[in-house]
Amino acid sequence: MDKIAFFDTKPYDKIWFDKLNTDFEIKYIDYKLTPDTASAAKGCKAVVVFVNDTLSSETIDELCALGVKLIALRCSGYNNVDLRYAKDKIDVVRVPVYSPYAVAEHTMALLLTLNRKIHKAFIRTRDFNFSLNGLTGFDLHGKTVGVIGTGQIGRIFIDICRGFGMRVIAYDPYPAEGFGIDYVTPDKLFAESDVISLHCPLTSSTRYIINEASLAKMKEGVFILNTSRGQLIDSDALLQALKDGKVRGAGLDVYEEETSIFFEDYSSTIIQDDVLALLVSMPNVIMTSHQAFLTDEALQKIAEVTLFNLNQFFKGEALQNAVTYQEK
Ligand code: NAI
Repeated sequence: MDKIAFFDTKPYDKIWFDKLNTDFEIKYIDYKLTPDTASAAKGCKAVVVFVNDTLSSETIDELCALGVKLIALRCSGYNNVDLRYAKDKIDVVRVPVYSPYAVAEHTMALLLTLNRKIHKAFIRTRDFNFSLNGLTGFDLHGKTVGVIGTGQIGRIFIDICRGFGMRVIAYDPYPAEGFGIDYVTPDKLFAESDVISLHCPLTSSTRYIINEASLAKMKEGVFILNTSRGQLIDSDALLQALKDGKVRGAGLDVYEEETSIFFEDYSSTIIQDDVLALLVSMPNVIMTSHQAFLTDEALQKIAEVTLFNLNQFFKGEALQNAVTYQEK
């Protein structure tokens, strides 16, 4: 049996892989892949990795030296892979879609929690504090949501918002035809939205799409939602806008410096990242730990497609879910 090194394994990852895998010997490794930990893949032809594993040129060199031939991402985003460097050295595959519903639904959960202050109400009533002071939200019905990125997840989030009676506007350089989406310029979206939700990939053109300049163009009291990638937001600028009251609340499933922190328990540790510590401490910020994908359906699909990708590779078939470097 071909041996696979499976980095950053958590108990919930193993459930579906153990159930569905019949073809490979999987070596589960509970820490992340970095240049320093790549040696754990010794004897393996493929590595299976997730969003916070580091597939830099150094890691790729280490993997190639060990004879690893395939990087199988068990996620859709691939911003953590140096694709240009990987080209002609090692194949890269991904799971293009696992559950866009999971991510879109989590985004709405963040908005509802923030707006109606469910997180505060939960703590209050558990302490038999039944006061309503400070818990006022606003009706989502009739408010404008600006969606940046109208791919799989963005379009489902739009449908959910429409169900709430919200007015939807969107920006995407590649508009989706046939969905009746009202596309506007980024500036118009910033100026008119009560809620802004990010559903675009992290690229050189989207990095820090939310920054001091774009925040200045937004309405007073805007909600910002990010379930895509942390580096879409300049966290320092967001922090300042929260302090100034410009941003009414932020729902963040991702954080620009999440790689060494998310998915681990640091509850007994002093967090050294001051921006993260301040964001988490704010009553109008909800941070989840890159959790938006985490549903039964998504985990099953991730296992099915990853095993399919591995099988295609080891059978020498054309890789249906290959990710390749595109010259700009
Ligand atoms: P997708 O590829 O279907 O859609 C992305 C959309 O963004 C496309 O329509 C594309 O044209 C658009 N886009 C590209 N450049 C843009 C720009 N400069 N401005 C605005 N839009 C732009 O991707 P999908 O499946 O909808 O995923 C969206 C993002 O969600 C992923 O890139 C990933 O980072 C994130 N994600 C997060 C998860 C989580 O657990 N938090 C799980 C899965 C994905």
